[in-house]
Amino acid sequence: MKNNQLYILLFGTTLTASILFILNSIRQKKKRKQDEEQKNEYLKCKSLNEFEELAKKLMKSHRFYYYDYKAGEGHTYKACRDYFDKKLRILPRVLIDVNEISLKTNIFGCLYESPIIIAPTTFHCLANIDGEIGTARGATEAQCIYTYNWMYSTKPEDEVLKTDGPKFLHIYLTTPKEILEKIVQEAEIKGYRAIVITCDHPTDRVRDNVLPLFEEASKTIDKELNQSMPMPNMNLPDIIVKQNLSTGSITWANIEWLRKLTKLPLICKGILSPIDANLAIQHGANGIIVSNHGGRQVDTAPPAIECLEDIVNVVDGRVEVFIDTGIRSGTDILKALALGARAILIGRPILYGLACGGHNGVKQVLDILKRELIYDMACCGLSSIDEINKNILYKHS
Ligand SMILES: Cc1cc2nc3c(=O)[nH]c(=O)nc-3n(C[C@H](O)[C@H](O)[C@H](O)COP(=O)(O)O)c2cc1C
Repeated sequence: MKNNQLYILLFGTTLTASILFILNSIRQKKKRKQDEEQKNEYLKCKSLNEFEELAKKLMKSHRFYYYDYKAGEGHTYKACRDYFDKKLRILPRVLIDVNEISLKTNIFGCLYESPIIIAPTTFHCLANIDGEIGTARGATEAQCIYTYNWMYSTKPEDEVLKTDGPKFLHIYLTTPKEILEKIVQEAEIKGYRAIVITCDHPTDRVRDNVLPLFEEASKTIDKELNQSMPMPNMNLPDIIVKQNLSTGSITWANIEWLRKLTKLPLICKGILSPIDANLAIQHGANGIIVSNHGGRQVDTAPPAIECLEDIVNVVDGRVEVFIDTGIRSGTDILKALALGARAILIGRPILYGLACGGHNGVKQVLDILKRELIYDMACCGLSSIDEINKNILYKHS
């Protein structure tokens, strides 16, 4: 090969390599910019519905589907939303001094910054690598109570407890008794303020419907998920736990048993019938969460918000009444408090906040709710949570 041919070859190769290098750098820069934009897209969300839309866009579909799941045809969930939107209307009041509005809320004799509590949900690692630690951080920053789902947490409890901020402990009565006894007895020392007990999950129906489909999808398209889905709390070294959520044999006697184990307030979650509300009190509960489990249990069960007033009436101040399912704005919160709820719990939007912006996303979801609630209180001439009552509901007797 002649010298000049060699030069041309060398020049060509160098030129091609340089062009490839430049193209690659441009591509990487573009990708970094896109990632950065995507990472900050949540900052544009102005409502909880926008968070849900963004989470749907950003999350792998089977992960989103697991969170979004509703039982049956989703009638209960839809009915909850319809009840909030169409059956309850707010009657504003004018020319009342609302210069200073406080969301401070008294729950079991403790003063909290707001009436907003994070509901117990599962597998936060589907939303963000920080899992429950991210949620706990977001709750701490927004000064809201976080209900830690002991059994289905993907992060060790002690890591979660390192975050400041008030916490409730969530338990399943189906957890083996020897474990339950231990965690309930230790709860007070660990700093939990109350214990939330799932009462509306007698069998595995939801798992049958959702988890196998979800697990199938995870195996084939979501390898990283398989690695990040440990259930540390179910794998205590000294006890081999056979997961059994379908006993169907838990009863009010289990609540009485818990009552003897701790002085912490016990909150029965998933109550819709006034009969059950009375039974909960008789067996030692200090609180009731009127809840449809986010519409994930029995389809066509009545909306929790529709059941609230009857339960508040039958309870008649003997215990605290809380509510969840379908709460998506400060306006919804105001309506629930007007019907007699002490505070509200919020489920999916927290997970969507975590998915879109990590702990900052959780904080933003909670901050939106607080801002909306403050604004609506101002429009009704209300300066404090204690002033909220049925009079702000239009033609509601
Ligand atoms: C993904 C997911 C997991 C949940 N896991 C539990 C649970 O383990 N125990 C429980 O009592 N409720 C559970 N719930 C129900 C929530 O605590 C809460 O009742 C419900 O999400 C409130 O409705 P919302 O999502 O419309 O706010 C779960 C809800 C979701 C979305």
